Amino acid sequence: MSIDAQVRHTEGESLESYLNFWSAADKGRGSVAAVIAALAEAGAAIAAVIASGPLLGAMGAEIGQANADGDKQRKLDILADEAVVSALRRTSTAYYASEEEEAIVTLNADGDLAVAVDPLDGSSNIEANISVGTIFSVFPASPAGATASFFRPGEEQSAGGYIVYGPHTSFLFTLGEGVAYFVLDPATRTFRLISHGLKIAPSTREYAINASNYRHWLEPIRTFIDDCVEGSEGPRGKDFNMRWVASLVAETHRIFMRGGVFLYPADQRAGYEQGRLRLLYEANPIAFLVEQAGGAATDGAERVLGKSAASLHQRTPLVFGSAEKVARIASYYNDSTFNRSRPPLFGERGLFRS
Ligand code: F6P
Ligand code: MN
Repeated sequence: MSIDAQVRHTEGESLESYLNFWSAADKGRGSVAAVIAALAEAGAAIAAVIASGPLLGAMGAEIGQANADGDKQRKLDILADEAVVSALRRTSTAYYASEEEEAIVTLNADGDLAVAVDPLDGSSNIEANISVGTIFSVFPASPAGATASFFRPGEEQSAGGYIVYGPHTSFLFTLGEGVAYFVLDPATRTFRLISHGLKIAPSTREYAINASNYRHWLEPIRTFIDDCVEGSEGPRGKDFNMRWVASLVAETHRIFMRGGVFLYPADQRAGYEQGRLRLLYEANPIAFLVEQAGGAATDGAERVLGKSAASLHQRTPLVFGSAEKVARIASYYNDSTFNRSRPPLFGERGLFRS
């Protein structure tokens, strides 16, 4: 976070004022600020639809087709995608990549940004009235064109963030100077600053993983979770707590609010060799936010932001949150005793794991 930002930003400040202040510092910043404002506008519209729930019809209803990665599209997925596209059309976004679109869409050919979006993350939770969200990543558009604009290391992002539609609507984003945390005021439909320079607790006793996949996991993940489950009687000597919302954006927000570690690892199921989550519009922006908050994000072993996508809907294993836990998991991956799929003496590892 810059010293200016520390001094200038005050609780309750409007998003508009925050962005005006930021973009005034540099001529090149205006288009990124406009994208953040456009996404906020789309998010406020999506939040209003979600708040009405079934009164507007069955928003969680499957509409019979699957998106490019095989997920069933729901009515709200499409509606959210349309809200985001129409807001971004009014910005200088050259290229748009979406979970809901097969290929990159050119919006304004002479624009200077490329925006990747998961318009409605966690959509299987819609009808259960559980938090869902919008996740986005912004790159500078490359003179080499649409593909080159996205297929590059995540550390080149200009901005990243998410909106979570929960009991209230939260908007967290980073412009590379720390994490800003806004909440939607339902009375005025404007976002107001809660805090700037959010930090993730470095250590935690809470983890999030879909434990029903236990039998498919590789040994580093099994060992980490086994150790947590053994609690005070195991090698870690302390008790842990587990959460799984099945809505990435909601898990991320919980980790921002009170620490924790999230894991969606690669596993042995066909099609899960690279986990479940997508690099461009899920892992990249979350990794950017998390690092800006002092946390860490890896694919288990390697930093997410060092990876380059080679295809639009490419998956990546994802581990992120409190830095100490993410480092511990990476140390399990890098431990040669785990490099076999099912070591015969695995059950005895408790004797020598630290
Ligand atoms: O977008 C993918 C997603 O819905 C995430 O929000 C969530 O973390 C994950 O999939 C849940 O996956 P699963 O149903 O395999 O637990
Ligand atoms: Mn998603």
